[in-house]
Amino acid sequence: MRVGVIMGGVSSEYEVSMKTGREMLKALDPAKYIGIPVPITTRKELLEGVKGLDFALLALHGAYGEDGTVQGTLETLGIPYSGSGVLSSSLCMDKSLAKTLIRSHGIPTPDWLCWDSMKEYEPQAVERLGYPVMVKPNSGGSSIGMTKVNHPQELRGAVEKAFACAEEGPVLIERYITGQEITCSILAGEMLPVIGIQSLGADWFDYSAKYEQGGAEERIIELPDAVDERVRTAALTCYRALKCAVYVRVDMLLKDGIPYVLEVNTLPGMTATSLLPQSAQAAGISFSSLLDKIITGSLQ
Ligand code: DAL
Ligand code: MG
Repeated sequence: MRVGVIMGGVSSEYEVSMKTGREMLKALDPAKYIGIPVPITTRKELLEGVKGLDFALLALHGAYGEDGTVQGTLETLGIPYSGSGVLSSSLCMDKSLAKTLIRSHGIPTPDWLCWDSMKEYEPQAVERLGYPVMVKPNSGGSSIGMTKVNHPQELRGAVEKAFACAEEGPVLIERYITGQEITCSILAGEMLPVIGIQSLGADWFDYSAKYEQGGAEERIIELPDAVDERVRTAALTCYRALKCAVYVRVDMLLKDGIPYVLEVNTLPGMTATSLLPQSAQAAGISFSSLLDKIITGSLQ
């Protein structure tokens, strides 16, 4: 089977995507799959690169990749692809919309507000949310353009920065929950072991904590049964509410035993040491067999 690994893209997460793609190519089982690198930075490259593929393994992150657009193109061309479909990808890419749906299903998510442009800038509304807040592009990833704002006087700069990084679209201002950062991966409708994240240099899980060697300690954690059940319910409810398929990673903050969902990633980082592959490893699933399960699951 000719499996094209689609990587690169046009979003600010290009580098992360290339890393994901290269590692996926290395790990594809050669007895089953012919891995073909499909690096893209333009629509033309995408259309030309997917000709003749039996399957598109998506290593893209962010806009034009994680947001349903590439999925829609592949649907139109009749090429099967990995992971969630068009609607789910678009929903999860819009953090504010996803949070609205998550909350409507009774799952806690930190209070937030969303502005379309600097014209809507209203510091009093943020006072009502309460400081600190996280300011981030509503459709961003990898913490790019994100700032933790502790004091009102830092708000304007953080909002301007988020708008500058948001390729298009709104900025999200979210109440900061002081708690344990955890991430829950779902594969084929089952939750994999939960990972707890301790950022080492920074006081939250920013870009350097995510991607630099020694930036964070990530380890499988055992939660008390009642908390584990709440976390599982939250993760699986999000998965269903947002119509996800095959695999996703749900990021949460755990405070006083209550999980607050931050976001759902339909195309999470997939280097061999990324969070979802680490969770799979803890469940006895090697990176290579994880990719196999993703391909097989996506073809069903
Ligand atoms: N957006 C990055 C790649 C992640 O969620 O892992
Ligand atoms: Mg994300």
